[in-house]
Amino acid sequence: MAHSKSDENAPFIIRQPHVDDGSGIWRVVKESGSLDPNSSYLYLLLAKDFSDTCVVAESDGEIVGFVSGYRPPMRREVAFLWQVGLLPSMQGRGLGKRLVLGFLGSLGARGATVLETTVAPSNTASRALFLAIARQLGAECHVSPCFSAHMFPEGGHEDEELYRIGPLPQPANSRRPLDLHD
Ligand SMILES: CC(C)(COP(=O)(O)OP(=O)(O)OC[C@H]1O[C@@H](n2cnc3c(N)ncnc32)[C@H](O)[C@@H]1OP(=O)(O)O)[C@@H](O)C(=O)NCCC(=O)NCCS
Repeated sequence: MAHSKSDENAPFIIRQPHVDDGSGIWRVVKESGSLDPNSSYLYLLLAKDFSDTCVVAESDGEIVGFVSGYRPPMRREVAFLWQVGLLPSMQGRGLGKRLVLGFLGSLGARGATVLETTVAPSNTASRALFLAIARQLGAECHVSPCFSAHMFPEGGHEDEELYRIGPLPQPANSRRPLDLHD
């Protein structure tokens, strides 16, 4: 079981990351349970250069959750959410939903009309999270095939289905970063 020094009752700060958060994000990925781990260098780069489309949850001075994403250069209407994860002790308490809504409220997601992500069919929590987001935003959620298992060279990887949620209500993604503390 993952260790966590954070106090489970401490309030969460939802904010955009800075470079010092890269190692905390990497630790969350490793401990969250079902995320593909990337190098610590990758998470340092994300926190340094892609912070406008990333969000972290901090509790008691510790990074306990994060979202990373980007705007596909050829499809600027889309805010693509790449990874979302929480330390195990923080899961199932509504924080995942707050982080995804924080991502949609981030500076980098401003103006996006569609939220996209991919989900492995066996990831019940992730499926439930994005269906709940669609419900909360009053948006449609269209699920279609995306990456097939055979495309992953390492083997043992499931299919990834594309979730397309939209149209996003514009108030949801025209909030300023400071509103993430709400
Ligand atoms: C996926 C994850 C981010 C969800 O965050 P979370 O804080 O646990 O989810 P929330 O508490 O915000 O719940 C969101 C919705 O999903 C539902 N849900 C959450 N976990 C669930 C589970 N294990 N089974 C069924 N439904 C679940 C909640 O009931 C809620 O629905 P509601 O609003 O209709 O009540 C989190 O579980 C996690 O970090 N998992 C490991 C990493 C991972 O798999 N990431 C996704 C792949 S990129």
